[in-house]
Formats: sequence, C-alpha cells, structure tokens
Amino acid sequence: MPVTIKNAAEAAKMRVAGRLAAEVLDMIGEHVAVGVSTDELNQRCHDFIVSRQQAVPAPLHYRGFPKSICTSINHVVCHGIPADKKLKNGDILNIDVTVRKDEFHGDTSRMFLVGDPSIRARRVCQISYECLHKGIELVKPGIRLGDIGHTIQQHAERNGFSVVRGYCGHGIGRAFHEEPNVLHYGAPGTGLEIQAGMTFTIEPMINVGKKETLLLPDGWTVITKDRSLSAQWEHTLLVTDNGYEILTESGAA
Ligand code: MF3
Ligand code: CO
Ligand code: CO
Repeated sequence: MPVTIKNAAEAAKMRVAGRLAAEVLDMIGEHVAVGVSTDELNQRCHDFIVSRQQAVPAPLHYRGFPKSICTSINHVVCHGIPADKKLKNGDILNIDVTVRKDEFHGDTSRMFLVGDPSIRARRVCQISYECLHKGIELVKPGIRLGDIGHTIQQHAERNGFSVVRGYCGHGIGRAFHEEPNVLHYGAPGTGLEIQAGMTFTIEPMINVGKKETLLLPDGWTVITKDRSLSAQWEHTLLVTDNGYEILTESGAA
C-alpha cells in the first residue's frame, strides 16, 4: 500500500484520535507509582478508552497482542506486555498508547519515572525526549526521512547512547501501521521526500549500551541484548504546508 495523504476531513479525524491518545497518557501519569502493577495501569487505560472516550485500544488483539497498552520497563525496549509484577523504586517505564476513534489512529508514548531513578536512567529518558523533538522540528514538505533519522542518530550517539535499528516509526491513519517506515538513523538527503498531508510517527528507542535487541519467547517483548536501559518517546505528526502539527501533544503541560 502506498503512503496515504490525508485530506482535511481525514486530518480532522486524526486530530481527534491523537488528542484522545494523549489524554490517556495525561490520565495515567498520576497512577504510576512504586507497588503498582502494569496490569493495573493497563486496566485503567482500557476502561478510560472504552468507557470515557468511546474509542478502541488498538493494541488489543493486534496481531495477537494480549493487552490494551504496551508497558516497557528498564531494559525492555518496546512492546512490553502488562503483567502483575509491581513497579519498583528506580524503574523507568514507557507507556505506549494507541487509540482508534472514528476509523483513525493516534499513537503516542512517554517515559515515566518510578520513585527515584539513577542519573543514567534519567539521562536516557531526557536524551530520547530530545531526539524525538529534534526530529519533529525538521518536519516540513521537501525534507527527506533520512534527514530526520540522521539528526536523531547524531544526538543519541553524541551523548554516548545508541539507536535501536530493528523497530521504527511508521505512517498511520486508517491503519495502525502504514507506509512509510520512519527510521531513527540514516543519512541526510536520503529516503522518501515528505509531503503535506502525510501522517506518521517518530518514536526513537535509545539504549544506554549497544543497539542490539532480542525478542523474548513471548513473541512481543523486545529487550536490549546487553540488558542496558532503553528509553522511548513517541508522537503522531501531521505534515502541514509549512511545517508540522503534533497530533498527540499533551494537554496537561
Ligand atoms: N504502539 C506501538 C508503536 O508505536 C506498536 C505496538 S504493537 C502492539 O508502533 F501490538 F504491541 F501493540
Ligand atoms: Co508507533
Ligand atoms: Co506506539
């Protein structure tokens, strides 16, 4: 399937889906605490999406994924499955929420600090946040995907961290994952040229140690091969005539 260009009506629906996804993260933040299980966070998000937002948690049953959100702790890179294990002091947690409303998807994730994480743990959260926003700031018609990847890679590596290669951002719209793949590494001036009306995510996964990952036998959980900490932030973006709109911006800040 080719890259889809959203018309004004479709962009409006993407705006709604994006706002709902952000509101789930705004809601769940205060519930992240030592002693809380990721299953409890999953249940709260599920109920909020279904009952309050009258929307659909897109991960549930997506290619067999068993839960409504992804929760990735410490050396888990992405696609962590909520479970009954409790959060402990010093954990760093990514919560990734994807909501479908009126046929369109919004996809966003943030890092949450549990108690008092180490300086290194906080640093990888901060640098991955900066990587996302340095990538976003480049977005406008005429730039290429490689420009975004290059900027993200440069910022991560200058800070001594590595960029995960095996997972990437993606087009999004009527489908959860659409073309194109949005790599978080690469060379300037290469890759697809960005056009107004495209909607895609940027979601860099940044490791404290080496870039290599392993897939656990559950078929979903991705961890760093060297068990080093990993952090990720994600937004869904709309390319406008002269720049971008962040569709999953927090209303809380
Ligand atoms: N939300 C993830 C992403 O950013 C995808 C999760 S797929 C799932 O693309 F099945 F694990 F939910
Ligand atoms: Co995504
Ligand atoms: Co996501």
